[in-house]
Amino acid sequence: MAERGHWGSKVGFILAASGSAVGLGNIWKFPYITGVNGGGAFVLIYLVCIALVGLPVMTAEILLGRATQTSPVGAFRKLSSSRSGWVAFGWLGVAGSFVILSYYSIVAGWALHYSYLSLTGQIVGLGPDGVGPAFDALFASNGLNLFWHFVFMALTVGVVIGGVSKGLERWARILMPALFVLMLILLVNSFTLDGFSRALDFVFGFHTEQLTAAGVLEALGHAFFTLSIGMGAMLTYGSYLHKKDDIMSAAITISVLDTVIALTASMVLFPIIFTYGMEPGAGPGLVFVSVPIAMSQMAGGTFVSFAFFALLVFAALSSSISMLEVITSYMIDEWKWLRSRATLVSAGIIAVIGIPSALSGGTRLFGDSFADVFGRNWFDTFDYLASNWILPLGGLGIALFTAWRVDDAIRHREFLEGTNLALFYKGWLFLLKYVVPVAISLVFLRAIGII
Ligand code: TRP
Repeated sequence: MAERGHWGSKVGFILAASGSAVGLGNIWKFPYITGVNGGGAFVLIYLVCIALVGLPVMTAEILLGRATQTSPVGAFRKLSSSRSGWVAFGWLGVAGSFVILSYYSIVAGWALHYSYLSLTGQIVGLGPDGVGPAFDALFASNGLNLFWHFVFMALTVGVVIGGVSKGLERWARILMPALFVLMLILLVNSFTLDGFSRALDFVFGFHTEQLTAAGVLEALGHAFFTLSIGMGAMLTYGSYLHKKDDIMSAAITISVLDTVIALTASMVLFPIIFTYGMEPGAGPGLVFVSVPIAMSQMAGGTFVSFAFFALLVFAALSSSISMLEVITSYMIDEWKWLRSRATLVSAGIIAVIGIPSALSGGTRLFGDSFADVFGRNWFDTFDYLASNWILPLGGLGIALFTAWRVDDAIRHREFLEGTNLALFYKGWLFLLKYVVPVAISLVFLRAIGII
């Protein structure tokens, strides 16, 4: 049997794990929920959630992976016992990857389509009035949604099939710097716009009157999504780490990078939105509607819009590969499958599970009829299941398992190995034991509608 893969270098791991974290969540979702929640105060709460909940859980995930050198199901089994119920959290991670990637790929497909439209000058050609109808048409088109969904899954397979250092790491080394450069270009562009100072005040100004309890809990839920924690992706990436690498400092670096990108994305978007007199609280359509409207009026709009949507594709791809890797590594570790077979079979299944999501905007079957029965269409149901249930539940399981079940001797040794931050151990464990479970329980109570 082939030897299990490892990262070629520590930087490679950091880039790949940051690539997993930085995704549609940062560029598409964070700015719009910031807009909906009124800016500054929400941002501050979000930062607190990242530091007190996200960071400890990410550290725990990477630690479980590195300690066991195996994928989520095996990791829980190794550190408890083979018949233990904890293993269910490993399964949840694998199941979660199927669910999330199947609809994530649809949104990534929109970004591909918009990159194509930008490149061919069609975004600018739409003019401000054509943008809304164009998005509605894409949303309702079965053919376009399916086509781009399959293209995006094929791209994801193309990376994952190459393995850990020659696939995931090599592509992260290309995609992440490209993403930083595009982001900087766009930031410089936004800096020159009239709306920049208003945007600065909106994102960083402290307007407490806007903040609601729902906003606080939304910030917490988003901390899970944006850091890719709760479903074993970081655990899987951690399992390819060498023992000499520092877990705690890696988790800090990844969280900081993810946060910087989310804030930068906001500072790219809001100046555009304010300059062109658009509504910051426009919701999920913020990126796909507001940005093209602005681009169609901006000098150099063709280039800027292409840069923007290419950025979105890169960010989505470096995340989707880590979701596929969770399933692939499970098949490789548990079933002893070859990587090529595992990648193709799991991606094939996801491509099929994604079909109803692709058809949610266009057919009655997965759109309206489905919504009549379940309250939301298929696509929205999957999104809701993932962010409100699977990720927080997985995060809770990982926190409780690491803090209360794993043997302290093993946990402490693993934490210390390779770290300069030994003094953080007690604080980390405290957060994991008490703060994280309480915070996640609050999210659940909200989801059930009790608070
Ligand atoms: N963090 C990703 C983003 O911000 C989304 C995501 C959630 C994810 N869970 C994941 C990515 C697990 C990879 C693995 O867009």
